[in-house]
Parts: sequence; C-alpha cells; structure tokens
Amino acid sequence: MSSIVSIQKLTKTYANGFSALKGVDLEIREGEILALLGPNGAGKTTLISIICGISVPTSGTVLVGGHDVVQEFRKTRALIGLVPQELTTDQFETVWNTVTFSRGVHGAKSNPALIEQILKDLTLWDKRNAKLRELSGGMKRRVLIAKALAHEPRILFLDEPTAGVDVELRRGMWAAIGRLRETGVTVILTTHYIEEAEEMADRIGVISGGELLLVEEKRALMQKLGRKQLRLELKEPLESLPPTLAALGLTLADGGRGLVHEYGNGAGEGRIGAVLAAIEAEGLSISDVATRQSSLEDIFVSLVGERP
Ligand SMILES: Nc1ncnc2c1ncn2[C@@H]1O[C@H](COP(=O)(O)OP(=O)(O)OP(=O)(O)O)[C@@H](O)[C@H]1O
Ligand SMILES: [Mg+2]
Repeated sequence: MSSIVSIQKLTKTYANGFSALKGVDLEIREGEILALLGPNGAGKTTLISIICGISVPTSGTVLVGGHDVVQEFRKTRALIGLVPQELTTDQFETVWNTVTFSRGVHGAKSNPALIEQILKDLTLWDKRNAKLRELSGGMKRRVLIAKALAHEPRILFLDEPTAGVDVELRRGMWAAIGRLRETGVTVILTTHYIEEAEEMADRIGVISGGELLLVEEKRALMQKLGRKQLRLELKEPLESLPPTLAALGLTLADGGRGLVHEYGNGAGEGRIGAVLAAIEAEGLSISDVATRQSSLEDIFVSLVGERP
C-alpha cells in the first residue's frame, strides 16, 4: 500500500519555547484507519493541525498526496476533511446549511444528493432543518463529521470524535466511519477510548511527550505485547513461595493467597501442565482458578505509564 501522508523528522516548538513534537516520522497508508493514542498534552492535536495546514511545522516535512502541506497548502487541504476537537460552529445556522456551506468553502460544486446521503448516513436527516443550538452534544459532533465529509475528502482526520458521546451513539459513529473506509477514505483518529482504537483501527500509533513511541498493526501489537495470566487462589495462604514453584516462574500475590503464572508471546504456554503438577506435588489446595488476557489498555499503560 502506498503512503497518502508522509511525515519526516517533524518538530514543532510553540512561540513560548515549548517543544510539542520532537522529530516524528510517520507514513499513513491509503485506505487505512489509524488510531493515535496518547495522554493529554501528548501532541496529537498539534500533529493533526500541522498535517491539515492549520499550524506550521518548526522543521521537517509533511507530504499529503505527494504535495507539501506548507508550499502547496490549497492542494493538500482539498484532500483533507477535519473534524476538530473543539466545537466551533455557528449555533444559529441549520444542519443542512452548515454542511452545504462547508462543501462550498472548499470550492466543490454543489451536490444536494450527496449532502442528503451524508446526513442520512450519520442519522442527521431528521434534524436537517434544526439549528445547531437545538442539538445535543453528540448530534453536534456528528454535524462536524458531516461538515468534514461534505467536500468528499480522501483523508479524514477525527480529533477525539466521540469525546462525551454516549455508548450507543459512539457505536453508531464507529459504524459510520467503518462505512466510510469501505469507500476508500483514509481515516486518522485520535482517541482516549482504548475500546475505540481496539474496535476501529487497522494500525495504532502511541504518542507521548511529543514522540511517536510506536506504530504497529493492531493485531501484531496485541500479539507481541499481550500477556496472559493464570491465577490460582489457594485455600491456605503461603508465607513464601516453594522453590519448585519459583523455578517455574510463578509469583505470589494477594498476601500469599494467590499464585500467578504469566505466559503468552509464545512463552510459557507449554508449562501450564507442569505448573499444575508442581502445585499438586507441593500438596497445595486450590479454591479457584482464573485466566486473564492483557488488553490494549494494559499495553498502553506499560508503554506510557498512564492512561490515555
Ligand atoms: N499554542 C500553543 N502554545 C504553546 N503550547 C501549546 C500550544 N498548543 C498546544 N501546546 C502544548 O503542546 C502540547 C501538546 O498539545 P496538544 O494539544 O497537541 O496535545 P493532545 O495530545 O492533543 O492532548 P489532548 O489529549 O488533551 O487533546 C501540550 O503540552 C500543550 O500545552
Ligand atoms: Mg488534542
């Protein structure tokens, strides 16, 4: 797959001297959904703003569709739809007009049938004549998406599209974004919801302190960093771990009440039988057994040290 966005050695130092991006390299593939995860202040919005030409890079280059975002801003901006993090839309305008104007602003020919389709896809058709101030927060977010789609961009940036949106609506928005991908649109979203990245993304990028810590296929990431855990609850707590169990890599938890065997990443699976046999041989009685698989959230916390 070819890159639709190509970012090299990108840095951004704000006027106050704060360094928000510290040398980011990233290739975004045509047609993929890329989720950028990172804690508050990681640099996600800064990165998106530079790609969209709203903010200028301090150094480095960003190409969109082969064009430089600074030198050829009009060409790159025409390829991009942006759903900003902040809601800044004329509250007294109707849904229909807001979305229709947005197409015009980008210099695209009027196309009411397309606007109708977009509003229907985002379940906004019934609200087309409502003024924005009459809409709920989740509906306003969907209007922002409709606006960003009105000029048929090839790349859609969504900066926290579902912040403050209820679970049902969030699922509806994921479905709408999924349908977009089927039309070939490349989607880059930032999110604080791990579940959103897990559900939607083909690849996941983790950004923290202005650095891109990794970009990986979601499946490969889960396989590489995902761990599994077997927890055995003992009837009688142990004061210390018997050497035969320590030799198998087990650890004690819950003040001696729990025995933990970690496996996964291709290591330790084959030892489960030996672990159980050794516990039996030590004459220990087990009252309960549980297994647990680490989630993207665990992986994220282990990389960044905090929750997104
Ligand atoms: N105009 C500005 N001037 C100075 N510093 C800024 C400016 N805009 C952003 N920053 C700083 O740059 C860093 C990155 O901000 P950015 O908005 O890109 O983070 P983010 O990852 O989008 O965070 P969030 O998840 O909270 O939206 C922050 O420390 C922020 O304070
Ligand atoms: Mg942000």
